Amino acid sequence: MKREKFATVVESRSPGNMAAANFSLFTLHFSLKITTFAQIFKHDDMKEIVLSGIRPTGNLHLGNYYGAVQNFVKMQEDYNCYYFIADWHSLTTHPKPEDIQQSARTILAEYLACGIDPEKSTIYIQSDVPETIELYLYFNMNCYLGELERVTTFKEKARKQPDNVNAGLLTYPTLMAADILQHRAAKVPVGKDQEQNMEMARKCARRFNNIYGVEFFPEPQNFYFGDHAIKIPGLDGSGKMGKSEGNCIYLYEDAKSIEKKVKKAVTDSGPTEPNQAKPEVIQNLFTLMEIASSKETYDYFDEKWNDMSIRYGDMKKQLAEDIVKTLTPIRERILEYKNNQELLDKVAKMGAEKARESASATLKEVRKIIGFKVY
Ligand code: TRP
Repeated sequence: MKREKFATVVESRSPGNMAAANFSLFTLHFSLKITTFAQIFKHDDMKEIVLSGIRPTGNLHLGNYYGAVQNFVKMQEDYNCYYFIADWHSLTTHPKPEDIQQSARTILAEYLACGIDPEKSTIYIQSDVPETIELYLYFNMNCYLGELERVTTFKEKARKQPDNVNAGLLTYPTLMAADILQHRAAKVPVGKDQEQNMEMARKCARRFNNIYGVEFFPEPQNFYFGDHAIKIPGLDGSGKMGKSEGNCIYLYEDAKSIEKKVKKAVTDSGPTEPNQAKPEVIQNLFTLMEIASSKETYDYFDEKWNDMSIRYGDMKKQLAEDIVKTLTPIRERILEYKNNQELLDKVAKMGAEKARESASATLKEVRKIIGFKVY
Protein backbone atom coordinates (compact mmCIF):
# COMPACT_ATOMS: atom_id res chain seq x y z
CA MET A 1 0.00 0.00 0.00
CA LYS A 2 2.60 2.52 1.11
CA ARG A 3 4.96 1.25 -1.55
CA GLU A 4 2.36 2.16 -4.14
CA LYS A 5 2.09 5.65 -2.78
CA PHE A 6 5.80 6.12 -3.18
CA ALA A 7 5.61 4.81 -6.74
CA THR A 8 2.86 7.30 -7.46
CA VAL A 9 5.17 10.11 -6.51
CA VAL A 10 7.59 9.02 -9.16
CA GLU A 11 5.15 8.23 -11.90
CA SER A 12 3.13 11.37 -11.47
CA ARG A 13 6.11 13.52 -12.18
CA SER A 14 5.41 13.84 -15.89
CA PRO A 15 5.10 17.45 -17.07
CA GLY A 16 1.62 18.87 -16.95
CA ASN A 17 0.81 16.71 -13.99
CA MET A 18 2.03 19.02 -11.28
CA ALA A 19 -1.15 19.00 -9.28
CA ALA A 20 -0.97 15.24 -9.03
CA ALA A 21 2.71 15.48 -8.17
CA ASN A 22 2.03 17.91 -5.36
CA PHE A 23 -0.70 15.76 -4.04
CA SER A 24 1.58 12.75 -4.09
CA LEU A 25 4.33 14.65 -2.34
CA PHE A 26 1.88 15.39 0.37
CA THR A 27 0.93 11.72 0.48
CA LEU A 28 4.59 10.81 0.77
CA HIS A 29 5.11 13.35 3.50
CA PHE A 30 2.13 12.07 5.35
CA SER A 31 2.93 8.41 5.07
CA LEU A 32 6.52 9.02 6.11
CA LYS A 33 5.29 10.75 9.22
CA ILE A 34 3.31 7.67 10.04
CA THR A 35 6.35 5.51 9.51
CA THR A 36 8.19 7.51 12.15
CA PHE A 37 5.79 6.23 14.75
CA ALA A 38 5.68 2.78 13.23
CA GLN A 39 9.43 2.69 13.57
CA ILE A 40 9.31 3.31 17.28
CA PHE A 41 7.20 0.21 17.56
CA LYS A 42 9.58 -1.63 15.29
CA HIS A 43 12.28 -0.77 17.83
CA ASP A 44 10.16 -2.44 20.43
CA ASP A 45 9.82 -5.39 18.12
CA MET A 46 13.55 -5.76 18.57
CA LYS A 47 14.24 -5.75 14.88
CA GLU A 48 18.00 -5.56 14.66
CA ILE A 49 19.45 -2.23 13.63
CA VAL A 50 21.54 -2.10 10.49
CA LEU A 51 23.47 0.92 9.36
CA SER A 52 25.68 1.68 6.42
CA GLY A 53 27.14 4.81 4.89
CA ILE A 54 28.71 5.83 1.65
CA ARG A 55 30.90 8.82 0.92
CA PRO A 56 29.39 10.98 -1.84
CA THR A 57 32.46 11.03 -4.03
CA GLY A 58 30.92 10.14 -7.37
CA ASN A 59 28.20 8.00 -8.84
CA LEU A 60 27.20 4.50 -7.90
CA HIS A 61 28.54 1.79 -10.17
CA LEU A 62 27.79 -1.84 -10.88
CA GLY A 63 30.21 -2.91 -8.13
CA ASN A 64 28.33 -0.82 -5.56
CA TYR A 65 25.04 -2.17 -6.83
CA TYR A 66 25.75 -5.88 -6.82
CA GLY A 67 28.23 -5.70 -3.94
CA ALA A 68 26.14 -3.62 -1.57
CA VAL A 69 23.05 -1.67 -2.58
CA GLN A 70 21.11 -4.66 -3.87
CA ASN A 71 21.60 -6.27 -0.45
CA PHE A 72 20.63 -3.06 1.35
CA VAL A 73 17.36 -3.26 -0.52
CA LYS A 74 16.78 -6.85 0.62
CA MET A 75 17.70 -6.05 4.23
CA GLN A 76 14.95 -3.46 4.47
CA GLU A 77 12.45 -6.23 5.01
CA ASP A 78 14.08 -7.86 8.01
CA TYR A 79 15.97 -5.10 9.76
CA ASN A 80 15.51 -1.60 11.00
CA CYS A 81 17.83 0.01 8.45
CA TYR A 82 19.67 3.30 8.43
CA TYR A 83 21.41 4.24 5.20
CA PHE A 84 23.21 7.54 5.13
CA ILE A 85 25.38 9.67 2.90
CA ALA A 86 28.63 10.53 4.62
CA ASP A 87 29.17 14.09 3.44
CA TRP A 88 31.12 15.13 6.54
CA HIS A 89 33.57 12.36 5.86
CA SER A 90 34.15 13.77 2.39
CA LEU A 91 35.33 17.09 3.87
CA THR A 92 38.75 15.58 4.52
CA THR A 93 39.59 16.46 0.92
CA HIS A 94 37.99 19.94 1.02
CA PRO A 95 35.37 19.67 -1.74
CA LYS A 96 33.98 22.87 -3.27
CA PRO A 97 30.86 24.30 -1.56
CA GLU A 98 28.93 24.23 -4.83
CA ASP A 99 29.56 20.50 -5.18
CA ILE A 100 28.65 19.45 -1.65
CA GLN A 101 24.90 19.49 -1.92
CA GLN A 102 24.73 18.10 -5.40
CA SER A 103 26.95 15.14 -4.70
CA ALA A 104 24.81 14.07 -1.75
CA ARG A 105 21.64 14.50 -3.81
CA THR A 106 23.17 12.38 -6.57
CA ILE A 107 23.70 9.42 -4.27
CA LEU A 108 20.28 9.95 -2.74
CA ALA A 109 18.63 9.78 -6.18
CA GLU A 110 20.64 6.69 -7.01
CA TYR A 111 19.81 4.95 -3.74
CA LEU A 112 16.11 5.55 -4.32
CA ALA A 113 16.38 4.42 -7.93
CA CYS A 114 17.90 1.13 -6.75
CA GLY A 115 14.93 0.49 -4.50
CA ILE A 116 15.96 1.80 -1.12
CA ASP A 117 12.62 2.86 0.19
CA PRO A 118 12.26 5.86 2.52
CA GLU A 119 9.15 4.30 3.96
CA LYS A 120 10.98 1.18 5.05
CA SER A 121 14.42 2.56 5.86
CA THR A 122 15.82 5.74 7.29
CA ILE A 123 17.77 7.40 4.49
CA TYR A 124 19.57 10.53 5.51
CA ILE A 125 22.44 12.86 4.87
CA GLN A 126 25.06 12.87 7.63
CA SER A 127 25.34 16.66 7.88
CA ASP A 128 21.60 16.89 8.59
CA VAL A 129 22.10 15.13 11.92
CA PRO A 130 24.21 17.40 14.16
CA GLU A 131 23.80 15.00 17.11
CA THR A 132 26.50 12.86 15.52
CA ILE A 133 29.17 15.45 16.27
CA GLU A 134 28.52 15.46 19.97
CA LEU A 135 29.05 11.74 20.15
CA TYR A 136 32.13 12.13 17.95
CA LEU A 137 33.55 14.54 20.52
CA TYR A 138 32.98 12.08 23.37
CA PHE A 139 34.61 9.24 21.44
CA ASN A 140 37.57 11.45 20.58
CA MET A 141 38.23 11.82 24.31
CA ASN A 142 38.62 8.07 24.66
CA CYS A 143 40.76 7.32 21.60
CA TYR A 144 44.51 7.70 21.47
CA LEU A 145 46.78 9.32 18.93
CA GLY A 146 48.89 6.19 18.53
CA GLU A 147 46.01 3.88 17.71
CA LEU A 148 44.46 6.34 15.28
CA GLU A 149 47.80 6.79 13.53
CA ARG A 150 48.07 3.04 13.08
CA VAL A 151 44.85 2.75 11.06
CA THR A 152 45.83 1.69 7.54
CA THR A 153 43.30 3.89 5.76
CA PHE A 154 44.72 6.89 7.64
CA LYS A 155 48.26 5.97 6.64
CA GLU A 156 47.21 5.49 3.03
CA LYS A 157 45.34 8.77 2.85
CA ALA A 158 48.19 10.59 4.59
CA ARG A 159 50.50 9.23 1.93
CA LYS A 160 48.14 10.29 -0.86
CA GLN A 161 47.63 13.83 0.43
CA PRO A 162 50.83 14.68 2.35
CA ASP A 163 50.00 18.40 2.31
CA ASN A 164 46.66 17.86 3.96
CA VAL A 165 47.02 15.39 6.82
CA ASN A 166 44.31 17.06 8.85
CA ALA A 167 42.83 16.06 12.21
CA GLY A 168 39.60 15.04 10.46
CA LEU A 169 41.52 12.43 8.55
CA LEU A 170 43.02 11.14 11.78
CA THR A 171 39.69 11.00 13.56
CA TYR A 172 37.80 9.51 10.63
CA PRO A 173 37.27 6.28 12.64
CA THR A 174 35.76 8.08 15.64
CA LEU A 175 33.30 9.91 13.40
CA MET A 176 32.43 6.60 11.82
CA ALA A 177 31.95 5.11 15.29
CA ALA A 178 29.58 7.97 16.13
CA ASP A 179 27.67 7.36 12.86
CA ILE A 180 27.10 3.79 13.89
CA LEU A 181 26.66 4.01 17.63
CA GLN A 182 24.30 6.97 17.68
CA HIS A 183 21.66 4.49 16.47
CA ARG A 184 23.15 1.65 18.50
CA ALA A 185 23.43 -0.35 15.32
CA ALA A 186 24.33 -4.02 15.69
CA LYS A 187 25.21 -4.82 12.10
CA VAL A 188 27.17 -2.78 9.61
CA PRO A 189 27.38 -4.03 6.03
CA VAL A 190 30.72 -2.75 4.76
CA GLY A 191 33.56 -3.94 2.58
CA LYS A 192 36.68 -5.67 3.88
CA ASP A 193 38.57 -2.38 3.60
CA GLN A 194 36.55 -1.04 6.54
CA GLU A 195 37.58 -3.73 9.00
CA GLN A 196 39.98 -1.54 10.98
CA ASN A 197 37.47 1.28 11.17
CA MET A 198 34.94 -1.21 12.46
CA GLU A 199 37.42 -2.41 15.06
CA MET A 200 37.79 1.19 16.23
CA ALA A 201 34.01 1.51 16.43
CA ARG A 202 33.92 -1.58 18.66
CA LYS A 203 36.71 -0.10 20.78
CA CYS A 204 34.73 3.13 21.17
CA ALA A 205 31.71 1.15 22.33
CA ARG A 206 33.72 -1.04 24.68
CA ARG A 207 35.71 1.81 26.19
CA PHE A 208 32.68 3.93 26.81
CA ASN A 209 30.97 1.01 28.51
CA ASN A 210 34.09 0.25 30.60
CA ILE A 211 34.86 3.81 31.62
CA TYR A 212 31.33 4.40 32.89
CA GLY A 213 30.61 0.86 34.04
CA VAL A 214 27.58 0.49 31.82
CA GLU A 215 26.44 -1.82 29.08
CA PHE A 216 25.07 0.87 26.90
CA PHE A 217 26.60 0.54 23.45
CA PRO A 218 26.50 -2.76 21.57
CA GLU A 219 29.68 -3.74 19.77
CA PRO A 220 28.73 -3.36 16.12
CA GLN A 221 29.64 -6.26 13.86
CA ASN A 222 30.71 -6.22 10.24
CA PHE A 223 28.01 -7.79 8.21
CA TYR A 224 28.87 -9.81 5.14
CA PHE A 225 26.21 -10.91 2.74
CA GLY A 226 27.04 -14.62 2.96
CA ASP A 227 26.82 -16.30 -0.43
CA HIS A 228 26.12 -12.99 -2.04
CA ALA A 229 29.48 -11.53 -1.12
CA ILE A 230 30.77 -11.48 -4.66
CA LYS A 231 33.64 -9.25 -5.59
CA ILE A 232 32.66 -7.40 -8.74
CA PRO A 233 35.63 -7.27 -11.09
CA GLY A 234 36.54 -4.23 -13.15
CA LEU A 235 36.66 -4.25 -16.93
CA ASP A 236 40.39 -3.75 -17.13
CA GLY A 237 41.24 -7.35 -16.37
CA SER A 238 42.48 -6.97 -12.83
CA GLY A 239 41.11 -6.22 -9.40
CA LYS A 240 37.69 -5.07 -8.39
CA MET A 241 35.46 -2.44 -9.88
CA GLY A 242 36.15 0.87 -8.16
CA LYS A 243 35.82 4.58 -8.71
CA SER A 244 39.49 5.27 -8.25
CA GLU A 245 40.44 2.38 -10.52
CA GLY A 246 38.55 4.00 -13.42
CA ASN A 247 37.18 0.64 -14.55
CA CYS A 248 33.51 1.11 -13.72
CA ILE A 249 30.17 0.85 -15.37
CA TYR A 250 28.00 3.47 -13.69
CA LEU A 251 24.32 2.95 -12.98
CA TYR A 252 23.39 6.11 -14.88
CA GLU A 253 25.11 5.03 -18.11
CA ASP A 254 23.13 4.51 -21.28
CA ALA A 255 23.19 1.47 -23.55
CA LYS A 256 25.70 2.92 -25.98
CA SER A 257 28.30 3.76 -23.41
CA ILE A 258 27.85 0.41 -21.62
CA GLU A 259 28.31 -1.45 -24.90
CA LYS A 260 31.41 0.56 -25.66
CA LYS A 261 32.93 -0.16 -22.26
CA VAL A 262 32.17 -3.88 -22.32
CA LYS A 263 33.53 -4.13 -25.85
CA LYS A 264 36.80 -2.66 -24.63
CA ALA A 265 37.12 -5.09 -21.69
CA VAL A 266 40.48 -6.81 -21.65
CA THR A 267 40.61 -10.38 -23.06
CA ASP A 268 43.33 -12.70 -24.35
CA SER A 269 43.90 -14.64 -27.56
CA GLY A 270 41.56 -17.46 -26.52
CA PRO A 271 41.81 -20.93 -24.97
CA THR A 272 44.56 -23.20 -26.27
CA GLU A 273 43.22 -26.50 -24.96
CA PRO A 274 39.80 -27.84 -23.96
CA ASN A 275 38.54 -27.33 -20.39
CA GLN A 276 41.40 -25.05 -19.57
CA ALA A 277 41.35 -23.04 -16.34
CA LYS A 278 40.34 -19.46 -17.13
CA PRO A 279 42.97 -16.76 -16.73
CA GLU A 280 41.96 -13.81 -14.51
CA VAL A 281 40.90 -11.47 -17.32
CA ILE A 282 38.54 -14.07 -18.75
CA GLN A 283 37.30 -15.21 -15.37
CA ASN A 284 36.36 -11.60 -14.69
CA LEU A 285 34.11 -11.51 -17.74
CA PHE A 286 32.52 -14.76 -16.64
CA THR A 287 32.02 -13.43 -13.12
CA LEU A 288 30.23 -10.40 -14.52
CA MET A 289 28.13 -12.69 -16.68
CA GLU A 290 27.29 -14.87 -13.70
CA ILE A 291 25.91 -11.82 -11.96
CA ALA A 292 24.24 -10.00 -14.83
CA SER A 293 23.03 -12.79 -17.13
CA SER A 294 20.84 -15.86 -16.82
CA LYS A 295 22.28 -19.24 -15.89
CA GLU A 296 21.58 -20.55 -19.39
CA THR A 297 23.57 -17.74 -20.94
CA TYR A 298 26.44 -18.31 -18.56
CA ASP A 299 26.44 -22.06 -19.20
CA TYR A 300 26.30 -21.52 -22.94
CA PHE A 301 29.49 -19.44 -22.98
CA ASP A 302 31.14 -21.66 -20.39
CA GLU A 303 30.63 -24.59 -22.73
CA LYS A 304 31.99 -22.56 -25.62
CA TRP A 305 35.06 -21.83 -23.52
CA ASN A 306 35.49 -25.48 -22.67
CA ASP A 307 35.22 -26.68 -26.27
CA MET A 308 37.37 -23.75 -27.43
CA SER A 309 34.78 -22.32 -29.81
CA ILE A 310 34.24 -19.16 -27.76
CA ARG A 311 34.13 -15.81 -29.52
CA TYR A 312 34.76 -13.03 -27.04
CA GLY A 313 32.94 -10.56 -29.29
CA ASP A 314 29.72 -12.56 -28.99
CA MET A 315 30.16 -12.99 -25.27
CA LYS A 316 30.71 -9.28 -24.74
CA LYS A 317 27.72 -8.40 -26.87
CA GLN A 318 25.53 -10.66 -24.76
CA LEU A 319 27.02 -9.41 -21.50
CA ALA A 320 26.48 -5.78 -22.49
CA GLU A 321 22.89 -6.55 -23.45
CA ASP A 322 22.19 -8.16 -20.09
CA ILE A 323 23.81 -5.34 -18.12
CA VAL A 324 21.77 -2.82 -20.11
CA LYS A 325 18.61 -4.80 -19.33
CA THR A 326 19.32 -4.54 -15.58
CA LEU A 327 20.42 -0.93 -15.64
CA THR A 328 17.84 0.63 -17.96
CA PRO A 329 15.00 0.84 -15.44
CA ILE A 330 17.42 2.02 -12.74
CA ARG A 331 18.85 4.64 -15.08
CA GLU A 332 15.36 5.89 -15.93
CA ARG A 333 14.49 6.22 -12.27
CA ILE A 334 17.78 8.01 -11.54
CA LEU A 335 16.91 10.60 -14.18
CA GLU A 336 13.44 11.04 -12.76
CA TYR A 337 14.65 11.52 -9.21
CA LYS A 338 17.49 13.81 -10.20
CA ASN A 339 14.98 16.04 -11.93
CA ASN A 340 12.81 16.15 -8.87
CA GLN A 341 14.83 18.13 -6.34
CA GLU A 342 11.70 18.82 -4.37
CA LEU A 343 11.13 15.14 -3.76
CA LEU A 344 14.80 14.56 -2.93
CA ASP A 345 14.70 17.37 -0.38
CA LYS A 346 11.56 15.94 1.11
CA VAL A 347 13.07 12.47 1.43
CA ALA A 348 16.26 13.93 2.95
CA LYS A 349 14.24 15.96 5.44
CA MET A 350 12.13 13.00 6.49
CA GLY A 351 15.22 10.85 6.85
CA ALA A 352 16.93 13.51 8.93
CA GLU A 353 13.95 13.72 11.25
CA LYS A 354 13.92 10.00 11.84
CA ALA A 355 17.70 9.84 12.28
CA ARG A 356 17.73 12.77 14.70
CA GLU A 357 14.99 11.19 16.74
CA SER A 358 17.05 8.06 17.17
CA ALA A 359 20.34 9.91 17.71
CA SER A 360 18.97 12.32 20.28
CA ALA A 361 17.47 9.45 22.28
CA THR A 362 20.95 7.89 22.43
CA LEU A 363 22.60 11.20 23.25
CA LYS A 364 20.22 11.90 26.08
CA GLU A 365 21.32 8.67 27.76
CA VAL A 366 24.98 9.31 26.97
CA ARG A 367 24.87 12.73 28.59
CA LYS A 368 23.32 11.25 31.69
CA ILE A 369 25.93 8.48 31.82
CA ILE A 370 28.81 10.94 31.40
CA GLY A 371 27.45 13.03 34.23
CA PHE A 372 26.04 16.06 32.50
CA LYS A 373 22.88 17.49 33.87
CA VAL A 374 19.87 16.63 31.76
CA TYR A 375 17.23 19.30 32.08
N1 TRP B 1 34.10 4.71 5.75
C1 TRP B 1 33.07 4.26 4.85
C2 TRP B 1 33.69 4.11 3.45
O1 TRP B 1 34.63 4.78 3.13
C3 TRP B 1 31.91 5.19 4.80
C4 TRP B 1 31.30 5.34 6.15
C5 TRP B 1 31.33 6.42 6.97
C6 TRP B 1 30.57 4.33 6.86
N2 TRP B 1 30.67 6.17 8.12
C7 TRP B 1 30.21 4.89 8.09
C8 TRP B 1 30.23 3.02 6.54
C9 TRP B 1 29.48 4.15 9.04
C10 TRP B 1 29.51 2.29 7.48
C11 TRP B 1 29.16 2.85 8.71
O2 TRP B 1 33.18 3.34 2.67
